[in-house]
Amino acid sequence: MGKQVIVSLLVLVLVMCYGVMAMAMSFDHEDEDWGRDQREEEWERQRGHRHWFLLQRSRILLRTEAGELRVVRSVGRRMVDRHINVGFLSMEPNSLFIPQYLDSSLILFVQTGEANVGLVRQHELGERQLKAGDLYRIPAGSTFYMQNIGEGQRLQLILSIDTSDSLRMGTLENFFIGGGTYPKSILSGFDSEILTNAFNVSSSELRQVLTRHQEGPIVSLNNSQSSPNLWTKFLGMKEQDRLQELKKMVYFPQEQEKTLTWSWRKLLNSMFGTIENKKRKQHHHEHSQESYNLYERKPDFKNNYGSSLSVDESDYSPLKNSGVGVYLVNLRAGSMLAPHVNPTATEYGVVLRGSGSIQIVFPNGTLAMKAELKPGRVFWVPRYFPFCQVASNNEPLEFFGFTTSAQQNRPQFLAGSSSVLEALRGPELAAAFGVSEGRLDRFVNSQREAVILPYKAERNQKADGIPKANW
Ligand SMILES: *[C@@H]1O[C@H](CO)[C@@H](O)[C@H](O)[C@H]1NC(C)=O
Ligand SMILES: *[C@@H]1O[C@H](CO)[C@@H](O)[C@H](O)[C@H]1NC(C)=O
Ligand SMILES: *[C@@H]1O[C@H](CO)[C@@H](O)[C@H](O)[C@H]1NC(C)=O
Repeated sequence: MGKQVIVSLLVLVLVMCYGVMAMAMSFDHEDEDWGRDQREEEWERQRGHRHWFLLQRSRILLRTEAGELRVVRSVGRRMVDRHINVGFLSMEPNSLFIPQYLDSSLILFVQTGEANVGLVRQHELGERQLKAGDLYRIPAGSTFYMQNIGEGQRLQLILSIDTSDSLRMGTLENFFIGGGTYPKSILSGFDSEILTNAFNVSSSELRQVLTRHQEGPIVSLNNSQSSPNLWTKFLGMKEQDRLQELKKMVYFPQEQEKTLTWSWRKLLNSMFGTIENKKRKQHHHEHSQESYNLYERKPDFKNNYGSSLSVDESDYSPLKNSGVGVYLVNLRAGSMLAPHVNPTATEYGVVLRGSGSIQIVFPNGTLAMKAELKPGRVFWVPRYFPFCQVASNNEPLEFFGFTTSAQQNRPQFLAGSSSVLEALRGPELAAAFGVSEGRLDRFVNSQREAVILPYKAERNQKADGIPKANW
């Protein structure tokens, strides 16, 4: 069965390659860091021709004692409209691929072994158990983790990596939510002052959580005190029940999810009951004219520290054709918008009033930019880059902006009581940070506010002497 599938996959790959080759008989040679098999090259020299229909160049994207991810080089990008790489993920028994999101969509195929995949959707963590032969899709920008749960069995997956939406066309980028010194968590790119405020913890608590992990992106859970037994119940079932369960769990309808419309407003709507919709509906149903006033709108989200609203095509239908969403954020003096990520949109912002600052972090967890904000200043934040805005101590900060998505943009907050860390809380995230579950819980629970948080500029001075950046 497994073999048949692999053979048909191979045939499919060959057929696709043939189509591609018929279009253009050349490969491009841009990246030179793709390793090749020496013997193959030797063989080709002797025969005077190349194996056009085999994808032979591969690269180890990451490797630890507990597993590795290898990607086979795809054909030249000029030849395909969708850029797909083939990847191979292999994980040792009882190992964890720590929580992260990618800039590419994955379709994974379980070749051998059993996996437990946790995926955050609609602010909820769902877990799926996969067995050999199963397919599963992980959309770009969605946080997930993966665990080998096969007893004494290596887990091997074949991945279709659709890099059409990736930051650097044609390559895959991992953004690790958990992490420490290796890999770095995307959180660690922010100044410690930002983080102590965002998480409402001291800088030593912060350091304890964000610097511990050093075992790499795929870790062994063998000696971990936080050894997860989420599935012991599952594994304890009779085999037939287990199969039934697997069928139920694995083939959940992906198509349905696609048709759901997501937006910042809807996310906030679903999280906070306090939001008023009725006034807006009136605007919507007056078919008189095509305009929409942001200031007449009640905010979608409001707390003691500020407010925000966003407008998408369900509020103002012309946005449907423009492919653009609009937002307005007000931060009171001494407040911050919690560090967050736009999984599906690039964001452009214009400062309307007040002053403050913005920090944007590279995917690899280093600070990309730190800048003052003042009226008239325009900033932009690429999709997938974590960022946050802070109002100055003595003035509020108001900014307005666009996102390159009239629907479906759903910021993921990295701190605060509605954060993705909150959703992920558990043995997997604890293992990803290399700390106990108790410590992680205390860390994640310290911040009681959501979305817009209090910010004390001086709070770090009394702390224990960690340099502000690069800590
Ligand atoms: C965990 O222990 C099992 C059994 O001793 C071993 O086969 C496996 O390779 C270990 N896993 C890792 C990730 O080291
Ligand atoms: C992180 O990524 C940025 C942008 O790609 C790069 O300029 C920087 O050198 C990287 N830093 C590290 C430590 O890898
Ligand atoms: C921060 O933590 C303290 C306790 O350590 C708590 O009293 C306070 O309410 C918390 N603040 C927020 C905004 O969660």
